[in-house]
Formats: sequence, structure tokens, C-alpha cells
Amino acid sequence: MRLLSFALLASLAACSPAGDPAESNRQDAAGGERQVAPILDSPEAKDVQSYARPLEARVTHVALDLKADFAAKRIAGTATLDVQSKPGAKAIVLDSKGLEVKSVTDGDGRPLRFALGKADPNLGAPLTVEHGGAERIRIAYASAPDAEALQWLTPEQTAGKKHPFLFSQGQAILNRTWIPTQDSPGIRQTWEARIVVPEPLKAVMSGERLTPEGEAAEGGGRAFRFRMDKPVAPYLIALAAGDIAFQSLGPRTGVYAEPATIRAAAAELVDTEKMVAAAERLYGPYRWGRYDMIVLPPAFPYGGMENPTLTFLTPTFLAGDRSLVGLVAHELAHSWSGNLVTNAVWPDSWLNEGFTSYFENRIMEALYGPGRASQEAALSFADMESAFTELGAAAPGTRLHNPDETTEGGSGGIVYDKGALFLRTMERIAGRERFDAWLRSYFDRHAFQPMTSARFLADLRSNLVKGDKALEDELRLDEWVYKPGLPANAVRPDPKAFAPVDSALGAFSGGGAAPAALWARWTTAERLRFLNGLPRQLPQPRLAELDRSLGLTGSRNAETLFAWLQLALANRYQPAVPAAERFLMSMGRRKFVAPLFETLAKQGEWGRPIAARIYANARPTYHSVTTGTVDKTMKENGGT
Ligand code: BES
Ligand code: ZN
Repeated sequence: MRLLSFALLASLAACSPAGDPAESNRQDAAGGERQVAPILDSPEAKDVQSYARPLEARVTHVALDLKADFAAKRIAGTATLDVQSKPGAKAIVLDSKGLEVKSVTDGDGRPLRFALGKADPNLGAPLTVEHGGAERIRIAYASAPDAEALQWLTPEQTAGKKHPFLFSQGQAILNRTWIPTQDSPGIRQTWEARIVVPEPLKAVMSGERLTPEGEAAEGGGRAFRFRMDKPVAPYLIALAAGDIAFQSLGPRTGVYAEPATIRAAAAELVDTEKMVAAAERLYGPYRWGRYDMIVLPPAFPYGGMENPTLTFLTPTFLAGDRSLVGLVAHELAHSWSGNLVTNAVWPDSWLNEGFTSYFENRIMEALYGPGRASQEAALSFADMESAFTELGAAAPGTRLHNPDETTEGGSGGIVYDKGALFLRTMERIAGRERFDAWLRSYFDRHAFQPMTSARFLADLRSNLVKGDKALEDELRLDEWVYKPGLPANAVRPDPKAFAPVDSALGAFSGGGAAPAALWARWTTAERLRFLNGLPRQLPQPRLAELDRSLGLTGSRNAETLFAWLQLALANRYQPAVPAAERFLMSMGRRKFVAPLFETLAKQGEWGRPIAARIYANARPTYHSVTTGTVDKTMKENGGT
């Protein structure tokens, strides 16, 4: 019966790109075998970054029973996988990277033959299990101490300085370093976990938190249990453990953080409940139960990560004035674009990030008004333009659907900003009301399913364009999705968004004084526009004047400080070096760390030794995501 239903569903799914939303919801709720046949057999949905062969056998559920060993920097225990196979399939192929596999058994404890294939430095090794059609397999294993998804922080790397901390980062293909499963975004899996951590630490995960206080575990430590009953892409399984406090923010929102950070975190995040309500008014119900966040120690390599029910956040967004909460709107928006409707493969990551950046801006508009939203959209447009400058205006890397770019999708300025601009352009052409109705129904139609560029286009044509030839021509859909460069119909940012800043830039560039009075009144977006709009080459006295009048080196806003340091270091402005060093030693967010090292390393005899000295000290405090990028930068620029 089970095998039959797999074949049936596979063929059904392949021929119905857009099912009835009510039907797909029933399937979600039913769980188990009814939800398991995503459209994975089209060439666009083939994931070359996973060894899995889901059309033969696929994982539908993962049950983890693991213990975190902080001294050995290992997570060890068992992963029990529910498997659905095509009739006659004898083996299932899983992803793994650096895992030490001790045994594999079937559901009844009988040993199964397994083999770890040749390891690729990026993809890891296929773990092939001869399951002989078994519906359940259990893998006993341990992660390696250098598992790239995991960062084990010493007490000194935390705010409290007393206890160690652990967090995971799965996207894009890192979860295979601690979970042996099919690590491909198109292969959705439900999951549950029991995680044992030493006293007095707490563990949290990206699913329902069943035992907030934990339970005494046999053999010491406390066990925390979790459950995700909706099928999710496996990169969204996430874990954090440490000295973690919780503060409620609203009926279904709250924040976790170290005790030393919890107050500042809760203050910055007061608007979260309103954000969830605004997001629902825009594009339909929030389907994940609670929306909590955890503010991690500063080594977290990203701004945020949209782990379901529990967004992971960098503490560098804590500016004290809520000026950087666009980050929260962004991660929240992923609860629809990304977590509900998910790119089937990473070359289509614009479907996650571009949609989310657009949605983020709509949430910001709903909460803080069109003025702030249009400023943030204009900054995004400028980021996109920088990407075109950097890559070349018509380079293949400027395509949204970018088959060459595997690991994470590609340049942020393209995937996020050109992606969002595409949606903004469609909104402008179709009209907001019509576009919103389509987007909302798109999330319903494809809820809990993988998405490809081709499927998105087919959906848009069936449900928005509906044969309207004039509209089709005006939208230039294929050009936006498949061609490099910027289509001529792209919506330009509102020139009024930054008019006063742009005139201040003109005045300063023409030799005028630094605009101290204006600066004091400007928003963070305006300050960023100003700093990023300054001439890239400035003489030392002009830099000193800016620094003194605007208090730049002392800035407590990480985005402003970063923008200033980029300019200052590119001009070899020595007084900024101690602040740069403090900044680089105090956090590991790749978006800040990598460009600063690159800027320094490109400054020849002046900057290269500074970069090398700081990196030697800072590197051990960074996550693999960050060292991976900075190592390359340093090598390319002779910094090490
Ligand atoms: N999902 C991304 C983070 C990510 C992207 C991890 C690619 C691994 C590979 C997250 O939603 C994100 O986009 N974070 C941004 C913040 C956002 C406001 C642009 C970041 O980390 O800076
Ligand atoms: Zn994102």
C-alpha cells in the first residue's frame, strides 16, 4: 500500500503544478505518506548538491536522539529515518559530511549494510544504506569536531562569560555535518528530536519546544524534546544550547537570549507581534504556531536565519533604536517565502530571498510607513547597482535563475535586491491589489512544497496574467528570470526618498563642511545613504572632519560603523584601525567581517599586515561560514 501510494503521488504531483490549496493543507495536516511526493523529476529541480536520489527512496521523517559533548565538540547518538521507496528500490542514499557512522540498523534493530562513498570537499560523502525496502532505518553516529554547521563557543565568546554555547547553521548544505539525512531543500521532512546538554544549559530548536525546562537525563545532563510536524526542508533544522533566558513579547512571540542580552533584545523586538499580524494581513495565515527568536552570541555568521518557529539573530542588529529591525521583518517573511514555499535547488534561491526581501519591505511599510519603506527600497536598489558594477552589467552572474551558482545561489545584490525589484516591478505593473491577491494565493497553492523558476512562471501565467497579452508583454517575465542585466521596465527608486541626503552629499563633495546638524536628525537609512554615497577616495583631512563631526569611529550602530570603516580603511585612515580591530574581534558576522578584511588586504603594504595580524587573532572566534570566505579573500590578496 505504501509503495503504491508513492508511485501514485509521484505521477500525480508531476502533472499538477498547482493543486487546490485546501487539498494541500489537508495533506500537510495528515502528514506521513500523503505529503511526500514533491515534483523532483523535472531537470530544473535536480539538486546537484545532494547525493540523494529521492525518486528511488526518500526520507519523510527524521527522529534525532543526540547528546552534545562540549569537551569533545561532538554531537553523538542516533538518527532514525522513515523512508519511502519506489517498488524494488534496495538502497537509499543520504548526505553526510565528516560523520563517524557507527552502525545502521532497520526498525527492528537488524544490522543493515552501508557504505560511505568518496568525500567531496564541498558536498561531503554519500551514505548509501542497503535498506532492502525497510521503512525505517536507524543510524548511530557522531559529528566531527570541525562539523561546519556547528559552532562551539567557549565561555569567553559569550556575553555571560561563564558557560559554553553551541549553535547550528544549516543553510545551505551544512546540516549534513551533523544530521545524516537527504540534505536537499526539495526533500521535505518532518522531524522530532531529543537533545541532551550538560547542566545548567538549555537547548532550543526550530520546532515545537515540548519540554521548555528539560528533563533529567539518564547518565547526566538535561534532555530537551522538540517536534516539527510540518514537512520542512532539512536545512531548516536548527539547534542552540547555552545559558539561555526567555522573554515573552506577545501571545505568540518571544525572544531567547543570554541573560546578559535579554533585556536589550526584548526592547529592540517590541514590535514583533505587530509584524506577525501585518505579515498575515498581507499574505495569509502564519502557519507555524509560535514565532520566537533567539539572539545569539556575536559569532553567529549571518544577520539572521529563518529557522521555523525560532529565527536566529545576530546581536549586531541591537542598535538601541529599532533602526535595524528590517532584519526581523525579513526572517519573519521567510515563514512564507522560503519555509512554506521553498526553492527546490540553490540556483533558484532568488525564490526564497528575492520574495522575502520584497515581503520584508511590505511589512516595514505596514509598520513604519511608506517613507521608511521607500528609503530601504532605495538602499536595496543601490546594493543591486553595486552588484551590477562588481559583476559586470550583463554578466551571467546577474541572472536570477543562476544554474552556475550552486552553493548559496549567488550575489546578494542579485538574488535579494534584483529579486525584490522584480516583484516590485510586477506589483507596479499589475497594480498592488491584484498582485497581492496573486502572491497570497501563490503561498496557499504551494504551501509546504518546493518551487522552481519554471513552476513560479507557470503559476504566475495561470493565475495573474491569465492570457492577457498586453500584460504579458509589459512584464517581461522570462527576461527577468533567465536573462542577465536589468530589464528596462524595472521600477526605479523614488528620487524623493533621499533628496535631502543627496543634496548634502553634493554639498560635501563640492568642498562643504560635514553635515553634522543634519546627521544628528537623520535615520539610519539616511546615514547609510550618506556614507555609501561619499566619494570613495577622500583625503585624510576630509576623513578626519567627517569622523570628528559625525562621531563615526565611535558609532554604536553596526551598519553605520561598518559603512564608515569600509570608507576609512579604503583610504588608509589610520585613526580608524583600532575601532576596526575592536569590531572584527567582537563579532563574526560574515557580511561585515569579509568585506573589511578584503578592504584591508587590498591596501598593499599599509593594510595587508594589519589584516594578517587581526585575522590571526580573530579567526579562531569565527564560524566556518565566515572563515571559509575570509580565508579565500586573504589568499587572493596575499594577506596570509
Ligand atoms: N537565509 C538567509 C541567510 C543565509 C543565506 C544563510 C544563504 C545561508 C545561505 C537569511 O534570511 C538572510 O537573508 N539573512 C540576511 C539578512 C537580511 C536582512 C538580508 C543576513 O544574514 O544578512
Ligand atoms: Zn533571507
